[in-house]
Amino acid sequence: MDLRLGTDDMKLPRELQYIENSLKPQRSTDARLDGRVCVITGTTSGVGYEAAKRLAQGGAELVMICRNQEKGRQVQNELTRDYGVKADLFIADFQALDEVRKAGLAIKEKYRRIDVLINNAGVFSKRRRLTPDGHEMTFGVIHLASFLLTRLLMAPLKQGAPSRVLFISSEAHRFTGLNLNDLDWRKRPYLGMFAYAAAKIAQIHTAHVFADQFQGDGVTFNIMHPGAVRSNIGMNNGLIYRLYSRYILNLFLKDPAESGEAIYYLAADPSLEAVTGKFFNQTIEEEPAWYAVKPGLTQAVWDRSEALVEPYMEGCG
Ligand SMILES: NC(=O)c1ccc[n+]([C@@H]2O[C@H](COP(=O)([O-])OP(=O)(O)OC[C@H]3O[C@@H](n4cnc5c(N)ncnc54)[C@H](OP(=O)(O)O)[C@@H]3O)[C@@H](O)[C@H]2O)c1
Repeated sequence: MDLRLGTDDMKLPRELQYIENSLKPQRSTDARLDGRVCVITGTTSGVGYEAAKRLAQGGAELVMICRNQEKGRQVQNELTRDYGVKADLFIADFQALDEVRKAGLAIKEKYRRIDVLINNAGVFSKRRRLTPDGHEMTFGVIHLASFLLTRLLMAPLKQGAPSRVLFISSEAHRFTGLNLNDLDWRKRPYLGMFAYAAAKIAQIHTAHVFADQFQGDGVTFNIMHPGAVRSNIGMNNGLIYRLYSRYILNLFLKDPAESGEAIYYLAADPSLEAVTGKFFNQTIEEEPAWYAVKPGLTQAVWDRSEALVEPYMEGCG
């Protein structure tokens, strides 16, 4: 009897199938994105940097949103030099929703049509920190900023139809649920990994509503875990965490180029043109945790997110 993980004789329960999927060979594509406008956030390191390079290699015109001008310029120069593509740069710190609004409006003004939007920028914090807007930082940067940006860019995305939006999520969303009564962790002891998971869950819920709302407009919305890969995530958590990450954690993590390849597949492969509202473990479709798709909660998360970003949508239609 064959008892290898993933065979019919040894199938993991549904909630653990992500472990099995992480071990499967991933898909890639030869499809090209020549001249297609791809907006991507957080390209200065890790997953976003590798995805930007892969998109440029595939001929895409890059529109990057980064918070650090100097690092952003370096990537911009590298992409134009190495791949001969157009690479534009907008600066915004996603902790400040007003900066997200300004970048979103500036992009909308300059680009009438967007083919792909990749919401990648993310952060992990061991300590509870608040954004200038008063939101718990991971929730603000990962969820509220990407939610607002996506809403701001809907008009050019519809113009670009068939167009695609990808939310870079994480299997870490399986660690815990989302407490709508305490989004900013004022009432409970803060746990960084749980706050990170909660932000990713909010993103999954709202991605599903986006997918339903824009079903007839030719804009797809999918969510993906980019793999467990070496990056700078968490490096803002002090020397001990940095040493742990660099010398221990990194031994178990994969090359972020794999994430870039997976993102490219989801952004470019023709087979996915009409696929929407799905969660992918890199390139393999799977079910997210049940509480990330819990009926009743999805609309509540959408409504709350909409209310929180409403002041920054003023005058945007
Ligand atoms: N690495 C993994 O194993 C893994 C696993 C699952 C999911 N993910 C997800 O993958 C995405 C990318 O993470 P990564 O691992 O590549 O981490 P990373 O190397 O730290 O890259 C994060 C990117 O987001 C940017 N960013 C962080 N805070 C920002 C802010 N306030 N405003 C604007 N940009 C900001 C960073 O800019 P700076 O360079 O200026 O800091 C950087 O470009 C995240 O959504 C993360 O949750 C990663």
